[in-house]
Amino acid sequence: MDFLEKQQDDRQEILASPSVTLDSLGDWVKTHDCNSLDHLWVGEFVTLMGWVQRRRDHGGLIFIDLRDREGITQIVFDPQIDSRSHERAHLLRSEYVVAVKGKVRNRPDGMTNPRLRTGAIEVIASDLRILNTAKTPPFHIEDDVEASENVRLRYRYVDLRRPRMTRNLLMRHRAAQITRTYLDEHGFLEIETPVLTKSTPEGARDYLVPSRVNPGRFYALPQSPQIFKQLLMVAGFDRYYQIVRCFRDEDLRADRQPEFTQVDLEMSFVREETIYGLIEGWLVSLFRRLLGIELNTPFSRITYSDAMDCYGTDRPDTRFGLHLVNITDLAEASEVKVFRQVTEQGGLVKAMRLPQGSGLSRKELDDLIDFVKIYGAKGMAWIKIMPDGWQSPIAKFMQDSVRAALTERLRLEEGDIVFFLADQPKIVHDGLGNLRVRLAHQLNLIKSGAYDFVWVTEFPLLEWDHEEKRYTSVHHPFTAPMEEDLNLLPHEPDKVRSRAYDLVLNGIEIGGGSIRIHRQDIQGLVFRALGIREEEAQMKFGFLLEALQHGAPPHGGIAFGFDRLIMLLTHSLSIRDVIAFPKTQKATCLMSGAPSEPEIGQLLELCVKIENQ
Ligand code: AMO
Ligand code: AMP
Repeated sequence: MDFLEKQQDDRQEILASPSVTLDSLGDWVKTHDCNSLDHLWVGEFVTLMGWVQRRRDHGGLIFIDLRDREGITQIVFDPQIDSRSHERAHLLRSEYVVAVKGKVRNRPDGMTNPRLRTGAIEVIASDLRILNTAKTPPFHIEDDVEASENVRLRYRYVDLRRPRMTRNLLMRHRAAQITRTYLDEHGFLEIETPVLTKSTPEGARDYLVPSRVNPGRFYALPQSPQIFKQLLMVAGFDRYYQIVRCFRDEDLRADRQPEFTQVDLEMSFVREETIYGLIEGWLVSLFRRLLGIELNTPFSRITYSDAMDCYGTDRPDTRFGLHLVNITDLAEASEVKVFRQVTEQGGLVKAMRLPQGSGLSRKELDDLIDFVKIYGAKGMAWIKIMPDGWQSPIAKFMQDSVRAALTERLRLEEGDIVFFLADQPKIVHDGLGNLRVRLAHQLNLIKSGAYDFVWVTEFPLLEWDHEEKRYTSVHHPFTAPMEEDLNLLPHEPDKVRSRAYDLVLNGIEIGGGSIRIHRQDIQGLVFRALGIREEEAQMKFGFLLEALQHGAPPHGGIAFGFDRLIMLLTHSLSIRDVIAFPKTQKATCLMSGAPSEPEIGQLLELCVKIENQ
């Protein structure tokens, strides 16, 4: 919009008069949406309804861009054609709701807009009904909105009118439809599971709901339908799915919401391969139909331990190289003090080569060192491979033999830079793993438009929780151990690998699942390894344990973060942009004000008392 137009637009908004007499819809029926007319419709009479995107007055004619969820159609009001509607069109302001009857005609030469699907035509109005007025919108309804996210969330119903947001939700709808059709064709039944239920252990805190009729008792909202879908397998349904809301009270980030949606499924009589094949087929059809992209299958696979080794994370972004290389043995043989100290304490030393990175300035290097410190690193050593030798704070402490071995192992070439981290494995992996991703973004090393899927397999069954001083499940306690590792369970539980798998897309975990334990004796062994006592197990999951004794078939499944998937399909930066009414980072809804204080009467009824903090 040029400046004059903007001024005019502003003035129109200021003049917006609340005294516009409104028309009723009457017997008018919408004949088309605002994105469907083109030259084939020229000469036809149509009735369109929608919102006024903007109004322009030009030489006696009034133009409006009429918008609905599908697109925009230009309407022209000409006093020669219909003086009453032309007169009324003067009253129109942004976001007024109108209905227009008129005839489709070609736009005059030079006035077409190839960027709009309807850009070759316009509708010359013969009648106008103003169905509602609107306050001046808090921001312009356009893609590059300048409003803060808080304002957008406060007026979400206005924000959702922006084409990008509308497109995201349309894409989400279509993805859900394709998913339902695909799973139906593969024999899956959609079965609902309870929302008022008992805790499902997925690693987050529960949302609790007090029960009025059972004072002092609470339901938990499901973190996932995990236990119920397993019970459906015991019941013999064989293949179940649900596009289902899950609730997790956890710290929020761009890709996490307290309530989010899973595509959740479970199958009986299967092993991993069947599940991988089914999911790959689903994603192929989603990408083909939504983006016109043909994915290559089978997706690549990597074991958890190789992923940690090579990428420092179990969510590897495989769109670029920058692999981590273990050089603990060479560090031990060197004279570098920090390396020697770490290796003597049984720590890990890893290196990452950035090809042709020796041009990084001192300041850039300092920034990168500060960056890895976020992950607990105490420092980061580096070596630049310059034409006249190695430039580095540590090179002088490396003998020729160490240098030669490093050159060979890292395939060093002139112009490269290598980064080194020495510490306990978690810090080395977090530091270099995140540095890898940061450098790839900073230096544009990521192929654009790439969708790199990778299955991460053979996760450890358990991990040691330093705070709670006990083992916890890496996936959840119903995940089956790998049969060949079962004998390690009593004495070396952290060496046991599980039959869990994650699907990672471009470094984001989009789905995870496992083959489950279907035998009660093995479930008992796993609970024991987790330090869950018999009574506790009975209290928490007694109903599942009992079901395992009633003919549980071998079974397994997976769940996908539907919001995350749509975020990636729509190139959105946050899952909030693909959820109609999301929560803020503090788990609040800026529009409705939830969560809010209950009335005293409600609390009394629920026998709940709030202690002052
Ligand atoms: P998991 O806990 O891995 O597995 O969850 C499955 C997928 O759900 C998505 N996800 C989330 N998305 C948005 N906001 C959140 N707070 C959030 N938390 C998880 C992720 C994740 O991969 N019952 C098992 C599945 C199974 O074993 O079948 C489960 O829930 O994309
Ligand atoms: P110093 O001996 O402390 O002067 O460190 C020598 C070099 O090693 C400096 O470049 C430090 O940034 C780097 N450094 C310090 N701690 C570590 C570490 N834990 N891992 C890798 N490099 C480190």
